[in-house]
Amino acid sequence: MLNMTLRDTANRVDENALRQAMREAEPILARAQAGEAKYADSQGWLSLEQWASDAWLDQIEAIADRVKKTCDAFVVIGVGGSNNAARSVIEALAEGGVEIVYAGNTLSPHALNKMLRSLEGKDYAIDCIAKNFETLEPGSSFRILREAMAKKYSPEEAARRTICTGTYGSSLEKLCEAEGYTFVPFPTDVGGRYSAFSYVGLLPMAVAGIDVRALVRGGRDMERRLHEEGAKTNLALRYAALRNLYHRQGYALEMLASFEPQFRWFYKWWVQLFAESEGKDGKGIFPVAAEYSEELHAVGQYLQDGAPLMFETFLDVKEPTDHLVIRSDGKKDFFDYLNGKDFWDINRAAFDATVTAHSAKMPCVIFEVGALDAYHFGQLFYFFQFACYLSGEILGINPFDQPGVEAYKGWMFKALGK
Ligand code: PA5
Repeated sequence: MLNMTLRDTANRVDENALRQAMREAEPILARAQAGEAKYADSQGWLSLEQWASDAWLDQIEAIADRVKKTCDAFVVIGVGGSNNAARSVIEALAEGGVEIVYAGNTLSPHALNKMLRSLEGKDYAIDCIAKNFETLEPGSSFRILREAMAKKYSPEEAARRTICTGTYGSSLEKLCEAEGYTFVPFPTDVGGRYSAFSYVGLLPMAVAGIDVRALVRGGRDMERRLHEEGAKTNLALRYAALRNLYHRQGYALEMLASFEPQFRWFYKWWVQLFAESEGKDGKGIFPVAAEYSEELHAVGQYLQDGAPLMFETFLDVKEPTDHLVIRSDGKKDFFDYLNGKDFWDINRAAFDATVTAHSAKMPCVIFEVGALDAYHFGQLFYFFQFACYLSGEILGINPFDQPGVEAYKGWMFKALGK
């Protein structure tokens, strides 16, 4: 189970202050555990039973099996919350199996042509994932992929290979009916960045061979835990209260970091979740991420010696992901102190050294993650979604809307003459 510890040499938030903040936020936790009428259109993710029940998983796996039998590649067309959860797990854990190709997340002709070239000579299917089927990136990519498929397959075969994940009653559903595409539901009551446990996240993962049942089990275990724990012990409330206390002390940024590059795409999911949920009404902690040990040779300097802008949150994987022992080759390279050491232990030493050094400068929050597998990704998704909700409420913003994004879209549509 996920565990949180704190390393802060200067003791900027002591245990009493944190307990007090958690007590004050007790009504927020109670409301979140019960579900709130004012967010009824955004809280379909709170209970996994709603969009990730066994019955939904049966359907998702059946479609994924069909894709696996007929495809070398699967194109996930989606942007932001429509692809980040799936991508973070697939890029971390998928090995072999159907190749997942990403589209609908860029307007760059170079990137799009490269994506199309990567499909040459392969059999593929596509999944256009769009809650609001007006977003430019997925809409435009869907067009060019339909064109590519029309050149490669008969109209019937292209239709068989086209899946759309959209909301009931949307123009995307109508398009599916008219063209014979497979339509699967994007939950109407779940926003993109909270949609990991639904067709949106689970279908691409299942196609890539991820154990989605284990992932959902992890999510369900975390859901149970966060709904059972009261305000004194609730882990999500503890984290949410803590980050708000740091924020009030002037820490404007939170840096998520780990020593496992497998988390590379998870950072993107996490950054989007917190940035889009909290950054509004002139408020919010700015979320950033760093991939260690590589970036200790870059942002590490700033963290140690620069302006005290941020606190740091580490993901610390407990079970070894792999082993690789370093041996002497008899040459005089002055690295003999590493002889016989396992990279797992070397990486851990780097982690311990970094936390020791950084905690003298800034608060360090450490999440112990049991293992880097589908089950624990499920725990992490649910945990951070729930914590983000609580944190947004403590901050006094609506964690489920994104008015700023809508504003930019308006200007873009105007520029393109929509
Ligand atoms: O979390 C969100 O709401 C956003 O990031 C959306 O997922 C993103 O803008 C894509 O929206 P849509 O699925 O409507 O194309």
